[in-house]
Amino acid sequence: MNTNFQAVKEVMLSRGSVKRYDTYEMPKEELDELLTLASSAPSAWNLQHWRYLAIQSEEAKQRLLPIAYNQIQVTESSVVIAILGDTEANKAARLVFGEALEQGELTQEIYDRTIGQIDGAYQNHQFARDAAFSNASLSAMQLMLAAKAKGFDTCAMGGFNKEALIKQFNIPDRYVPVMLITIGKAAQPARPTGRLNLDTVLLETL
Ligand SMILES: Cc1cc2nc3c(=O)[nH]c(=O)nc-3n(C[C@H](O)[C@H](O)[C@H](O)COP(=O)(O)O)c2cc1C
Repeated sequence: MNTNFQAVKEVMLSRGSVKRYDTYEMPKEELDELLTLASSAPSAWNLQHWRYLAIQSEEAKQRLLPIAYNQIQVTESSVVIAILGDTEANKAARLVFGEALEQGELTQEIYDRTIGQIDGAYQNHQFARDAAFSNASLSAMQLMLAAKAKGFDTCAMGGFNKEALIKQFNIPDRYVPVMLITIGKAAQPARPTGRLNLDTVLLETL
């Protein structure tokens, strides 16, 4: 079997939600590496809707604890990444496509038309919000797999008070909290979980 496939499969299948962690202070370089990998996720128009809030100090974790309904993994893990979605991701379009324009990969006409399409789409708030969630979620998954491949474990968390998170950490209006991800060295393995049969999840092959 292809060795890449084997390695990726192993990382995917060995990932589980770990709730208890050993003390481990994650160096900045290690966290930067994981977040850089997480940022390599695909996104619509390459607008890169993900933003991260790294909650790493003891003091910040203590502030997060009640917001996450006292789930212990928030304080035991090395770092908690709040994955945020940018509801104004169209603002990144000039940066993303400007480079291609400068390098002559895009004509001015195509650039203008693309920017116009993107700005037009983001006038629709529901679209902008949906895009923030779907695109940022891809980055969240990349983060969990990168962490696992590097010897860490993670737990994705939706159990937290979004309004309280925004208020406590002064998150600007344009960003929506998507999920929290704890990262650290496992003290206890994840509880085994099953999955629905393929027959159930594959509705139809047309
Ligand atoms: C969006 C999302 C939110 C979740 N919220 C929580 C949470 O608040 N607390 C928790 O302990 N686990 C949480 N989980 C973990 C799930 O319970 C877990 O992924 C699921 O049971 C499958 O188990 P596994 O991750 O070990 O494969 C969440 C997972 C996802 C993807």
